[in-house]
Amino acid sequence: MRRLKTMLAAGLLLLSGTAFVATASPAQAHDNGVGRTPPMGWNSWNHYGCAIDETLVRRTADAMVANGMRDAGYVYVNIDDCWQGARDADGFLQPDPQRFPSGIKALADYVHARGLKLGIYSDAGVKTCGGRAGSQGHEYQDALQFARWEVDYLKYDWCNTGTGAAQRNPREAYATMRDALRAAGRPIVFSICEWGDNRPWEWAPEIGHLWRTTGDIVNCWNCELGHGSWTSFGILAILDKQAGLRKYSGPGAWNDPDMMEVGNLPTLAENRSHFALWAMLAAPLIAGTDVIAMRPDIAAILTNPRLVAIDQDALGLQGFAWIRTPELEVWARPLSGEKWAIAVLNRSDSQRSHTIDFAGEPLSDDLNQKFAKIGERHYRITDAWTGEAHGTTREPLEVTAGPRDTAVFLLTPLG
Ligand code: GLA
Repeated sequence: MRRLKTMLAAGLLLLSGTAFVATASPAQAHDNGVGRTPPMGWNSWNHYGCAIDETLVRRTADAMVANGMRDAGYVYVNIDDCWQGARDADGFLQPDPQRFPSGIKALADYVHARGLKLGIYSDAGVKTCGGRAGSQGHEYQDALQFARWEVDYLKYDWCNTGTGAAQRNPREAYATMRDALRAAGRPIVFSICEWGDNRPWEWAPEIGHLWRTTGDIVNCWNCELGHGSWTSFGILAILDKQAGLRKYSGPGAWNDPDMMEVGNLPTLAENRSHFALWAMLAAPLIAGTDVIAMRPDIAAILTNPRLVAIDQDALGLQGFAWIRTPELEVWARPLSGEKWAIAVLNRSDSQRSHTIDFAGEPLSDDLNQKFAKIGERHYRITDAWTGEAHGTTREPLEVTAGPRDTAVFLLTPLG
């Protein structure tokens, strides 16, 4: 992505001179020092919807410290929709006095004292999706209020922005809030949530740190649920919608396939697969489950150090489907240090086996010019879930994955 922009800028320089290049340098335009790796944290929406209050947020923050999530990198504690009360006489947003009686600044202080960061939610329309006050017409005032409260992350939704010709221009609407956040002076992660409706990957990298690529996620394996005017999508349905988007993602500008349902899916295998796929996609890792009552096996998935490291890899190159069979997909992702991550996803409801013949199937990422060159060199294979050694690429890799499960391997160059 950055390379693409550099090439574009160089081309424009030749055509138009330096003045134009200065405005055509989006990566610089939005680099405010945060969001360089995919943001990690928790968000209230997937599990709690509107049923939130300050006690829940505090208890969740405490649980994230106690269960190891904070130390694994999950630092953002994000309040989604329904925190808002009325605006005050001067137009400043206030929290719902029943649900957040101590105020948002007190909550920010509470999470900051525990080494965490606070996220909040608003909307580019007059009202949010949940019918609370939106930021349209109040962008600079709301950004200032968020900064005064010492908020660290803003998810900015797209409900009630008008329809047809009267709809707000999304690029303009999101750029206005970006500029307002910048003017407020606090480095805040800016999460663009317009559901992929207006090809945000083409304009959002210069505006936000992440942009939703699809409609809302729901906790099923491969369903699509209609809700009248909108549809929500299961894990595989969301995965399949990421096709063609990897070239838009990179450090500081991430495709967002939505907050995770890890912990909300029926089987451990499905939860494992969901997490592995989001790591392969370099997706933001925002947990959307009940952290307070989280089972240890779910916490172990979310905090697996090798899987988290794949997601957070410094190169920030999104993975790709390398090999597809009707029911198995082998995903590959080039990592820093000439390493690769390989994930074998079993989409089916019965156990499947697959042999990866490294000699016969070149492992290459043409887009990013990354080539494993297996044969010329070889790699040690590690099971990323367990950390156990799994041979080398000198032999074909035989993989068995249970129903809806995903095996993940790390390939490390042999010295
Ligand atoms: C939209 C967003 C969700 C959530 C709700 C809140 O549907 O896509 O992620 O924020 O609004 O009302």
